[in-house]
Amino acid sequence: MNEISSPLSRAEAEALDQADPLATVRQAFHLPEGLIYLDGHSLGPATFAALARVRQSAEAEWSHGLIRSWNDAGWIDLPARVGGRIARLIGAQRAEVIVCDSVSVNLFKLASAALDLTGARTLLVEESEFPTDQYIAEGLARMTGARLVRVRDGAALAALRDERSVLLKSVVNYRSAEVTDIAAHEDAALESGGAVVWDLSHATGVLELNLSEAGARFATGCSYKFLNGGPGAPAFVYVRSDVTDEVGSPLSGWMGHAAPFAFEPTYEPQQGVGRFATGTPPIISLSALDAALEVFEHLDLALAAAKARRLGDMVVAAARRLGLACISPLDAAQRGGHVSLTHPDGYAVVQALIAEGVIVDFRAPDVMRFGLAPLYLRFVDVWNALAQLEAILVSRAWDRPRFKRRAAVT
Ligand SMILES: Cc1ncc(COP(=O)(O)O)c(C=O)c1O
Repeated sequence: MNEISSPLSRAEAEALDQADPLATVRQAFHLPEGLIYLDGHSLGPATFAALARVRQSAEAEWSHGLIRSWNDAGWIDLPARVGGRIARLIGAQRAEVIVCDSVSVNLFKLASAALDLTGARTLLVEESEFPTDQYIAEGLARMTGARLVRVRDGAALAALRDERSVLLKSVVNYRSAEVTDIAAHEDAALESGGAVVWDLSHATGVLELNLSEAGARFATGCSYKFLNGGPGAPAFVYVRSDVTDEVGSPLSGWMGHAAPFAFEPTYEPQQGVGRFATGTPPIISLSALDAALEVFEHLDLALAAAKARRLGDMVVAAARRLGLACISPLDAAQRGGHVSLTHPDGYAVVQALIAEGVIVDFRAPDVMRFGLAPLYLRFVDVWNALAQLEAILVSRAWDRPRFKRRAAVT
């Protein structure tokens, strides 16, 4: 395990910021004055470029261009173009990625395709998998008659090897931030003739991913977390190029048709990953995402991932000092872009932090997640946030009725 390295003073944190090769990337983001935002693993902040693009697509392309913009502003090509931008971030070829629908819908399409491709009759999920992945597997099992098997965390690898099945699995667990070994699971799936559908929601934009090298065939992920695409921005689909034409989407919508504007009565899938598109793309959202991805264009993801690990180590070190349990891997190499600590009154602690301008989030029953997005957070921000956490815990400032009232979204 690597040693946990954390600055021991505010001055040391400032010195790390001075030496940070990513320090200037922060200027691309619109960050509200006085807030420390440790929730980029849930909803990334706006970039100035994305805000400008939303205005442009709404005011120029929609208001003035109207329907002509499908051609004149290139709207119709946006799903593939933006998919191409995401491809570099996940270690795929440009033509293997398309942006469409939500992660939930894409999981359904890909798991169905994987069942068809492999002939598997079993869907696998691990107990602590993100709920939507489990619910989609349940629904698909009901529809297809496949058996749904829930295994304990970490047991999917052996289960995949034992029986031909389709596993739905996150690369970074939403709760613990533990990173999974993609290649090992793909090897196990190949042994039994099964497949894995990867959920890259918490991994994209904060980890160095190389799907091709790891042998991944199917993946989806969301774009509103570390990719900063905006609330409800569409997700992406990756299908490895040698597999695409052997599989199809169960949601055979017209945007996945070979010639949508031929208005044929029967469905003929497009060549390539475009066949996983379903309906009309959400252009304003897609435009925002397209512009948000500009910050990644020449970015060295290895640097971003390394910074996220160092920021995470600061949270781990603070947890030790404050006597809080950490449910994330202590070894930064095994961890994604957030660190999760537990506290019996975690919800109230999180609300008290938010009241002091430190935004983190809470996952029932007791998990406080600290997101360490490396592109706009400074070491000193994390230092200040942790000092605030300490003050709240020591003073028990969280122990007030107003911090215990639950809002609809936590
Ligand atoms: C691992 C994971 N999968 C899926 C989702 C959500 O998917 P959708 O785009 O369908 O809302 C989330 C949202 O936080 C997530 O963390």
